[in-house]
Amino acid sequence: MKTLIIIRPDAVLRGLVGEILTRFEKHSIRVAGLKVMQLDREKAGELYEIHKGKPFYESLLNTMVASPVVVGVLDTDVLDNKSAISLVRKIVGATDPSLAEMGTIRGDFGLRIDQNIIHASDSVDSAVREIPIFFKKEELVKYKC
Ligand code: CMP
Repeated sequence: MKTLIIIRPDAVLRGLVGEILTRFEKHSIRVAGLKVMQLDREKAGELYEIHKGKPFYESLLNTMVASPVVVGVLDTDVLDNKSAISLVRKIVGATDPSLAEMGTIRGDFGLRIDQNIIHASDSVDSAVREIPIFFKKEELVKYKC
């Protein structure tokens, strides 16, 4: 099972990339793809198409294109597949950092809902839709054990 994460501009600027990746690696979640990217409005709009029309949509796009992001695909095959997405979401924490538990990425580092450090696919369907927005199949590695 693979899922997408985006370490958002606020976290990259604060030098949190290594710390965030370490949190996943400590749970034996592996990195199958990783890119530093400057998103444009088209890419950000594709990722967040389900939020189009919501009051925060325009500011969300502005936030995501403000400076570079780190986009990653995480591989949880070494773990129980059923829990893959939920494990990543548990490590990430609630969308609103003020509600996220301490010990989660957003609970420990998030400042506000619009500066919540990281995006993670919220379901298997979302992961299947979101990964190809950023990665071609041949850009992702496979682990043999
Ligand atoms: P993310 O998990 O990347 O998915 C969509 C993003 O929209 C979310 O993180 C928040 O940053 C943002 N978001 C969701 N709800 C709100 C809100 N009510 N006000 C502002 N931003 C929001």
